[in-house]
Amino acid sequence: KTVSPTGRTEREGLLGGDPRAQAGDHLTTAQGLRLSDTDHSLKAGRRGPSLLEDHHLREKITHFDHERIPERVVHARGAAAHGTFVSYGNAASATKAKFLAEKGQETDVFVRFSTVLGSRGSADTVRDTRGFAVKFYTDEGNFDLVGNNIPVFFIQDAIKFPDIIHAGKPHPDREIPQAQSAHDTFWDFVSLHTEATHHVFWNMSDRGIPRSYRTMEGFGVHTFRLQNADGDTVLAKFHWKPVAGVHSLVWEEAQIAAGVDPDFHRRDLADSIENGAFLEYELGLQLFPDTEDETFEGIDLLDPTKIVPEELAPVQLVGKLTLDRNPTNYFAETEQVAFHLGNLVPGIHVTNDPLLQGRLFSYVDTQLTRLGGPNFPQLPINRPHVPVNDNLRDGFHQTAVHRGIAPYLPNSIDGGGPFTSEDGYVEIPTRVDGPKVRENPASFDDHFSQAALFYHSLTPIEQVHITEAFTFELGKCYEQAIKERELEVLAKIDTGLCEAVAAGLGLPAPKGEPVAHGAISPALSQIPAEPGPIT
Ligand code: HEM
Repeated sequence: KTVSPTGRTEREGLLGGDPRAQAGDHLTTAQGLRLSDTDHSLKAGRRGPSLLEDHHLREKITHFDHERIPERVVHARGAAAHGTFVSYGNAASATKAKFLAEKGQETDVFVRFSTVLGSRGSADTVRDTRGFAVKFYTDEGNFDLVGNNIPVFFIQDAIKFPDIIHAGKPHPDREIPQAQSAHDTFWDFVSLHTEATHHVFWNMSDRGIPRSYRTMEGFGVHTFRLQNADGDTVLAKFHWKPVAGVHSLVWEEAQIAAGVDPDFHRRDLADSIENGAFLEYELGLQLFPDTEDETFEGIDLLDPTKIVPEELAPVQLVGKLTLDRNPTNYFAETEQVAFHLGNLVPGIHVTNDPLLQGRLFSYVDTQLTRLGGPNFPQLPINRPHVPVNDNLRDGFHQTAVHRGIAPYLPNSIDGGGPFTSEDGYVEIPTRVDGPKVRENPASFDDHFSQAALFYHSLTPIEQVHITEAFTFELGKCYEQAIKERELEVLAKIDTGLCEAVAAGLGLPAPKGEPVAHGAISPALSQIPAEPGPIT
């Protein structure tokens, strides 16, 4: 342990510092030349111009000029922590992934929480979805569970992702608003692409303003395919359940916190860990039979705008995550971490959810730019905790000095290796069949029944909050036609909600027939419509 100048104790980080970067007590140039002065540039006389030959001046300023890397195109503002995941071992019947299947197995993790729309310097407590991205450094390689605190997404197909983000980010002309959904393009998009309705309802509810990262649920959102040691497969959704329970701010608190302490959530995260009040979550699985139609109780498991209610498929807890160590360097860890849905381990596989499929492309693609080329997996925070021998070579920012001359397989020169493994990752041979079309399955046409289910599951005070949130956020729109179109959407969910929001906006409420929440899946209509606590 070392004590920082502020008197705070700093634990040795995962990275432990780079001995090449901070060795010795003497200030040097990047070439190791000891410096006698770092405060005065070399000038032609005390009052003269600075000289081009001053390498130290140029090196110091040039390096500074290039210190920033591009912020993430989404989820730019984040805070992170290290921790450990311990498996309960009861998931072995579903998956052979060792970090889940073996009882008591401990796995290092790094978790980055984030908002989606704000820039790096925006406030923590704005109304937004929160990212909940987990990197498991397992004995079988890295597994990334790149989730959110909301179990559904705005769109059903990744091809619309640039569009929803363009609509949600600040307007291109004035660059406002900074980090809220309170503006014309957001409501224009979601009222035109009504598949967004279910996510919008979660956003406008208290879930959109979490009290703390420790009181947030997390969701993998998509359906994954798990495989056990016998080769049996099952479909699954991942859930994180906070041990401290789910708690939100109220809107007034969120607004005050955004002004008084824009770092409200990241300060809470860092201070809690510093003080030994670690964050805890249990990992849960919802399991569904791996049927050919990939539906469960009439719910299409490939549609990322749908949940499967826990009343129909309970969340089974399979392990516990404890976050107990702060990063020691924000840039090296929180900023340079690179998550990717394609980072999978044996026993966990992707499905054909068209949102998931597009994400498999997008993350590495953006990281090539954000992290400056193809060698970002070598960055300490991204490095697996198992040996890597990938036959990849060279490229920008290569830090490895590879041995041998035959980076190809098979080879008869470098001892023949590295060799493929019998227990290596094997894709499950699922059938792919059908005409080449740009079309959705018919089940994707239901945009409203689960938003209605969600709204009717809220307690009366939560319904008041969501009504106020719709009124506040829509009230920020300049275009009346956009407000009116969103009221048409609300009319499909609940007449009382629509009328209350319309009154708040000073507009007439449109007449509409609300969609019954059992409209698509008969099983849903068995879930009581009266308010109950959300947990
Ligand atoms: C970043 C979650 C959909 C593209 C992130 C992050 C999270 C996340 C948590 C932040 C990762 C971090 O902390 O570094 C989700 C979820 C989605 C979703 C849960 C839907 C279920 C999509 C889609 C695309 C996409 C459809 C594109 C087609 C990106 C990109 C980044 C990102 C480009 C920035 C990555 C980086 O710069 O490292 N997403 N996302 N996301 N997401 Fe998504």
